[in-house]
Amino acid sequence: MAPLHALVYQSHATRPMDASDLDVLLLDARVNNELANVTGALVYGNQQFVQYLEGTRADVEQIYARITRASQHHRLEILEQGRADARRFQRWHMGFSEAPQSVVQQLSQAQWQRDAPWLEDDIASSVGLARLLAFWKEDAVLAR
Ligand SMILES: Cc1cc2nc3c(=O)[nH]c(=O)nc-3n(C[C@H](O)[C@H](O)[C@H](O)COP(=O)(O)O)c2cc1C
Repeated sequence: MAPLHALVYQSHATRPMDASDLDVLLLDARVNNELANVTGALVYGNQQFVQYLEGTRADVEQIYARITRASQHHRLEILEQGRADARRFQRWHMGFSEAPQSVVQQLSQAQWQRDAPWLEDDIASSVGLARLLAFWKEDAVLAR
């Protein structure tokens, strides 16, 4: 089996996203991710996105390339990418949660490898991932 790869990025919505915008986006993303066997989580708040993707490297890169072409956001910045020891969002072809501004800010400013994303360290040791998982554990019940 090919090793697991993870990629996390942040971006800014080009306009405020309402519930139906998000539903359409998620429906499309989930169908596509299921076909590619990519799992992950998307957090949205204050017109900002933070998204974590996991799968084989080729699959993650293919999905990320598609994501970069979406018109609903811009100013994408990869926060970290690298080897993943296991899937953290096994159940989610794309989990979604809205989050208060403070949480999105915390996630996007967390210590990811953003200064050197090409280093491709083991993502499991990242402070940013620990933050995302803590938020997800507390709020996943509310996730749609
Ligand atoms: C924040 C965000 C996250 C997305 N996540 C995924 C994803 O996980 N998988 C995927 O295949 N597409 C993803 N997409 C792409 C959308 O599913 C969809 O193809 C795109 O938004 C259509 O945009 P358009 O208006 O430019 O046609 C994402 C798009 C955005 C804006």
